[in-house]
This record gives sequence, C-alpha cells and structure tokens, in this order.
Amino acid sequence: MSTPAPISTRANVRKKVTTLTLRQKKERGEPISMLTAYDYPTALAMDQAGVDVILVGDSLAMVVLGYENTLPVTMEEMLHHSRAVARGAKSALLIGDMPFMSYQVSVEEATRNAGRFLQQGGMDAVKLEGGRERAEAVRCITSAGIPVMGHIGLTPQSINQLGGFRAQGKTAIAARRLVEDALVLEEAGCFSLVLESVPARLAELITRKLSIPTIGIGAGVGCDGQVLVTHDLLGLFDRFTPKFVKKYADFHGEMQRAVTDYIEDVETRRFPAQEHTVEMDDKEWDALLNDID
Ligand code: KIV
Repeated sequence: MSTPAPISTRANVRKKVTTLTLRQKKERGEPISMLTAYDYPTALAMDQAGVDVILVGDSLAMVVLGYENTLPVTMEEMLHHSRAVARGAKSALLIGDMPFMSYQVSVEEATRNAGRFLQQGGMDAVKLEGGRERAEAVRCITSAGIPVMGHIGLTPQSINQLGGFRAQGKTAIAARRLVEDALVLEEAGCFSLVLESVPARLAELITRKLSIPTIGIGAGVGCDGQVLVTHDLLGLFDRFTPKFVKKYADFHGEMQRAVTDYIEDVETRRFPAQEHTVEMDDKEWDALLNDID
C-alpha cells in the first residue's frame, strides 16, 4: 500500500480532478473523498487538504441558513455560495447541487438551471435528486455537455413524500426499485451516483452493478467513495447529528469558547492589549494638544 503524500504538499502537486479521474479511481479500487462546502475559506482548506470532490450542497439551507429542511434554498443563493467556493478551490471537482424546483418542472428549465451552475457559479458539474423520474432531465442536461451526479435513497428534497429523514431501501421491493433506479440513471448518462441512507449491503450491490462510481452517505463502506456534510464532520451544526456521521472536531464548542473568552477580555479590558493598538508619535501628539488647547 502506498503512503499518502503529506497534506501540505498534496494541493501543490495535484492536477484538476475531473469526472474521468473519478471513473479511473473506481477502476483502480481507490476510494473517492467528497465533502460539502459553502464558502471561500472552507473550500480553500479542503482543496489544500486534497479532497477529490467538493459539493455545494443544498444542505446549505439547513447548516448555514438555519432552515428546517433543504426546500427553501433558491438558485440565486446556491449560485452565490458556488461562486465563493469556486474562488477557493482550484483542484477539486466542483459540483453544484440543484435546489428544489429548479429541475422538476421541465427538462428545459432543468437544463437552463444546470447551465447557470457552470456559467455563473464556477462549478464543473451538477447534482440532482431522484430515480427513473429524472432520467429525461439527466439526458437533456448531459446532452448540453454538463456532467450530472445522481442522488437516490434518502432524497431530502422529497421528505414530505418519504415521511421524514428516514433510511430507504430496507424491504426487498424498495431495494429492487433502487437498484433499477441506479441502472436507469447510469444509462441516462450520470457520471456518478450518491447513495444516501440505504443498507450497506444494498449500496455494495449497486456499486458492483454500476460502472460509474457510487458515493455513499450513511450507506456503508462498500461504496466507491464517501461524502459527509462538512458542518456535521466539524461539529459545527448543533441541531442534530445523524447516526452515520463521524464527528472529527467540535467547532461549535470551540467557537462558543472563543467568543466567551473574547467577551470576558472586553469586559475586563484585557483586550485590546498594547500589541493590538495603533501608536502615535509623541511629537505629533504634542502638536495636536497645542493646537486644540
Ligand atoms: O446537500 C447535500 O449536502 C447533499 C449531500 C448530503 C450528498 O446532498
């Protein structure tokens, strides 16, 4: 097994990740790493750490904008955050998540909105949710030269239909439908597929059946890659943490601690200290005092 390059050098040496890179990683059996980002500094740090794919997820609605679910976020908001991410990340493959109602009404509207992610958002590809019912949209978008990542299993834009944020594909009938959806999306032209909250053995089966890479979230280790919502991984979203999340840090706690320390420093006049203060030459100061006295 080869030793990974040190984090500080990975961004300097690596080439731009493309959809072809992901396909080659699947063929070589190398896991694909994917994370969400919504702003410049996070995208910059992730890109320098060497993540393969950055998704400007519609999870933006929940973890950044504070909504209860992903439905309210708009195309304009997604594009605004996509541009910030594109300014920070130069090597990772950048994917814009198509928000609710930006691709469901007609394939023409879907294609136009997908195009906006590339033209106005600086993204390389788009992601959309749904199975066979999205095949026509996928065909139309890809025929415009825009790579599409599919997303099946728990599709958060359909929570009202699914009855909440619940695991999918747990019965033989539901699992078979997901296998069929995956095959239809591959045939329609998706370059990759997110599998969210499905049984690990089902995700592994789908991964074996497809030649495009699968990216799992709550779908076990048998997928070709993994994605997490970065605010969950960093412990920055305090409302709830799904069972499948591994928390790598407690940024919410750390942020609270830093702000509490700041308030205390202000209240006790420990901040600003000498080193944070702008000085004025004595001669200039005396001249001022002479002037105003
Ligand atoms: O919006 C998002 O963050 C996503 C990931 C969970 C895949 O769709």
